[in-house]
Amino acid sequence: MLLINGSPRANGNTSELVKRFLDNVGNKATVEEIRIFEKDIAGCKNCGSCQKNVLKDHCTIKDDMSGLYPKFLSSDIVVIASPIYMWQLTPCTLAFLNRLHCLCRSEDFSYNEMEGKRMALLITLGAEEEVADYAANGLRDFCEFFKIDYKGDLRIPFAKKERIASGEYDEKVKGFAKKILG
Ligand SMILES: Cc1cc2nc3c(=O)[nH]c(=O)nc-3n(C[C@H](O)[C@H](O)[C@H](O)COP(=O)(O)O)c2cc1C
Repeated sequence: MLLINGSPRANGNTSELVKRFLDNVGNKATVEEIRIFEKDIAGCKNCGSCQKNVLKDHCTIKDDMSGLYPKFLSSDIVVIASPIYMWQLTPCTLAFLNRLHCLCRSEDFSYNEMEGKRMALLITLGAEEEVADYAANGLRDFCEFFKIDYKGDLRIPFAKKERIASGEYDEKVKGFAKKILG
């Protein structure tokens, strides 16, 4: 399992939720967590190269994505964790997702290395949970388009690190981990 933590805060709400989630995954999966905010990941520049040919290094941009493609490709399950920023996933999370475009020729799907993967979303946000609809629906549509098995999202509205750490959401988190691994 690859866990993409898209929060800029290493000790914030999302990172606490990730911790609780990984506790529940336990030894049922080998997990690598990547704190994506600390990586250098440019946005896709639409050079179009990856849509014409399968590139040896996947993308023409040389940055930290080069090391992340092999991790993504070797993971059956990819969990995205992000706070909501302006109704969306964080910019670094979106940059990561944008750069997966090279793993599929989206015109004819003759090449799609994302097909069959499992994906899920962990969200924390400051407001009520419906505010995450826009971001969550975006990832759901992304998965549908790229033929990824989307396992849904877990949202912590009005998120407070102390409440997450206290175990208040543990039943919910446990059920979600089970659903993803099952
Ligand atoms: C720049 C910025 C934009 C935000 N936008 C939203 C938003 O649109 N809706 C919302 O409910 N919370 C919003 N929040 C609150 C965060 O989603 C919330 O506090 C989250 O739990 C922070 O996670 P973190 O501790 O991992 O950084 C925003 C916070 C920041 C810093």
